[in-house]
Amino acid sequence: MTRTPLIAGNWKLNLDHLEATHAVQKLAWLLRDAKHDYSEVEVAVLPTFTSLRSVQTLIDADQLPIRYGSQDISAHSSGAYTGEISGGMLAALGVTYSAIGHSERRQYHGEDEAMVNAKVKAAFSAGIVPILCIGEGLDIRKEGRQVEYTLAQLDGALAEIPAEKVSTIVIAYEPVWAIGTGEVATPADAEEVCGAIRVRLAQLYSDEVAKAIRILYGGSVKSGNIAAIMAEEDVDGVLVGGASLDPEEFSAIVRYRSHVTG
Ligand code: PGA
Repeated sequence: MTRTPLIAGNWKLNLDHLEATHAVQKLAWLLRDAKHDYSEVEVAVLPTFTSLRSVQTLIDADQLPIRYGSQDISAHSSGAYTGEISGGMLAALGVTYSAIGHSERRQYHGEDEAMVNAKVKAAFSAGIVPILCIGEGLDIRKEGRQVEYTLAQLDGALAEIPAEKVSTIVIAYEPVWAIGTGEVATPADAEEVCGAIRVRLAQLYSDEVAKAIRILYGGSVKSGNIAAIMAEEDVDGVLVGGASLDPEEFSAIVRYRSHVTG
C-alpha cells in the first residue's frame, strides 16, 4: 500500500492555546522516545482557531514533524462575514488540513451539502487539504442505508471538484452514532463504507485517483481498538476525538503498529 496512514486528533472545543502547546510538546516527546517514524505514519492535530498560532510557533521552533489543521474553514475568502476565518488566513498560519463537514458542524450549525461543497472548494483554493467528514446517523444505520446515505454526502461535497485537485483530499468516514459514544463501529462496519467510498471515487474520477485518496475512520477510536480497524484494506487512518486529548493515549494510538493483536 502506498498511502501513508494519517492519525489526526480532533480536539474540538477543548484545550486553550497554553494547553494545546503543552499537549503537542508532550506528544512529540512521547513519540520521540518511542522512535516514531513519521514517514511511516503521519500525525496531525486539529486545535481550536485560537490555538493555531501558538501551535505553529512551537512546531516551527522545535521543527516537530507533527502537522496541524483547523476544525472548520469559511466558505468565503474575505468580506462582511463576522466571526469567520478564511482559508487564506489559515494558510498563512501554515495549516496543512481543515476538517470540513464534521457531523457536529452539520448538526449544530446547519451545514448542508452546498455549504460543505463550498468549504471544500475554499480549502483547495487556499492550498489546504480538506478532511471531508461524512457518515450516517443511527436512524439511517438501523434502516441499513449507511452506504447510500454516505455516498450521497460524498457526491454532494465533491460536486465540481476536478480530478487534479481531488487526489490530495482526505475523507473521514464517521458514523454519527459512534462519535463520542464509546460505541465503536466494528472493523467490518468501517470497511463496508470505506470500501464503498473508494469504489465511488473510482466511478467519479478514476482508479488511480481512488487509490491515492486516504480514507479515515472516526468514532470512539482508542488505543485498544485501532489496530483491528487499521487492518482493514480501505482504512488509511483515523480521526480521533476524545482519546486525542490525552497525549499518552494519543501516542499509543499513533503507535498502533507496535500493538499485539489477535
Ligand atoms: P470521538 O470523536 O473519537 O470522540 O468519538 C471523533 C470525531 O468526532 O472526529
